[in-house]
Amino acid sequence: MKNRLRTLTEPFRIKMVEPLKITTAEYRIKTLQKAGYNPFLLRSSDVFIDLLTDSGTGAMSDRQWAGIMMGDESYAGARSWEHLERVVKELTGMEYILPTHQGRAAERILYGILGGPDKLFISNTHFDTTRANIEFTGATAIDIVYDEAQDPEADLPFKGNIDLDKLRQLIKSYRSENIAAVIITVTNNSSGGQPVSMQNVKALRRICDEHNLLLVIDGCRIAENAYFVKHREPEYKDYTYEDIAKAMLRLGDAFIMSAKKDGLVNIGGLLTMKDEALSLKCKNQLIISEGFTTYGGLAGRDMEALAIGLTEVFDADYLHYRIRSTAYLGEKLKAKGIPVVWPIGGHAVYVDAKKLYAHIPVHEFPGQMLACDLYIQGGIRCCEIGSVMFGKYDENKQLIPAANELVRLAIPRRVYTQSHIDYVLDVFDDILALKDQTSGFRIRYEPPFLRHFTAQFEKI
Ligand code: F0G
Repeated sequence: MKNRLRTLTEPFRIKMVEPLKITTAEYRIKTLQKAGYNPFLLRSSDVFIDLLTDSGTGAMSDRQWAGIMMGDESYAGARSWEHLERVVKELTGMEYILPTHQGRAAERILYGILGGPDKLFISNTHFDTTRANIEFTGATAIDIVYDEAQDPEADLPFKGNIDLDKLRQLIKSYRSENIAAVIITVTNNSSGGQPVSMQNVKALRRICDEHNLLLVIDGCRIAENAYFVKHREPEYKDYTYEDIAKAMLRLGDAFIMSAKKDGLVNIGGLLTMKDEALSLKCKNQLIISEGFTTYGGLAGRDMEALAIGLTEVFDADYLHYRIRSTAYLGEKLKAKGIPVVWPIGGHAVYVDAKKLYAHIPVHEFPGQMLACDLYIQGGIRCCEIGSVMFGKYDENKQLIPAANELVRLAIPRRVYTQSHIDYVLDVFDDILALKDQTSGFRIRYEPPFLRHFTAQFEKI
């Protein structure tokens, strides 16, 4: 379709609408002040464009809603479970399929069994719930992306890849019997939604075979990753997106998925594996904490919608629109002179606030400031991924800043139109015009853990 090359049109039309409230800047200033300058503490009804996360915030299709009406709510052996199990077995090629209520439940079950004091987990980057579930068992989690990939400006095709040399060194120094698993997160959320190449996963498979290590694929954005493989790895250019995902998943020993992303549903998760003995241990944990093995914390209708979502997500027109619409925002921001993590990843655009607000020192949280300015200027909600989220204190209570001060604009799936995104771009013009007038924050209240969710700030 020639048209598609000129205007990036949404490959769907809208059958049901949800009104958005248009507010004034005065209203937003007061609202944000009441929320202690923390966008997590805003009411969603006070937000115009919500880019806080792409998790569970997508719109379902008419086919998924029809599936919801057909959900089988039987406690055991429901038809909807059989449907989901069939789809997931075909996708993963794995024999043992466990449903969970979301991704972190799958993580808690699997890493609770594999972890424990003295155990090591190695990943490109552990997502924060992944790390928390591992560390909760007393185990250690180490991140090993390539050094070059940590540079926000390095223009590399697969910045999510694991550094294979670092992996070999870790295996040598820790010995394989102490390594609980190698986890490859595709795409790599914490480093900008950057993709992982098939070549990298194949090499991981070989190394894991050599050393008898378990390879887990955290694939909540597996379809988005498949898009990048097809377009950046020549060997896969003639594959369908689904066949790329299938080939990648067949390289793993286990698969964890927060279905709230590429499952195209608002709730749900999966834990699948090849090994029967491990699956039995996981099933026991599942029954204790999530539910029986044929529903695992989900309603029959949720499983039905997920089974349908997992096939829709590989539609070529959908994936093209999805990846290109994220890039549309990122490329246009870059052209305006807004520093962004490059290249643009699959589900989000990450703005480099340290560069944009170069006059605000990191201990005054430039990322938090940008997130607040975007809300005040345009009612846009997003989240800081910088020293508010990852900063620590030294023994003199001085901030040890995070490596980067980023702001994530995560794009919900099939929710906003191009004109919404053009509006976001307009708001960034105001951000640029006002950037030198903006000042920093100090923390007024913070909890002991995961402070970004509930901390409150005051302006300096
Ligand atoms: N793994 C990755 C790579 C994730 O991005 C997430 C969630 C999880 C696991 C946990 O899944 O939320 O279903 O329990 N990421 C969301 C985000 C929260 O905003 O990026 P969950």
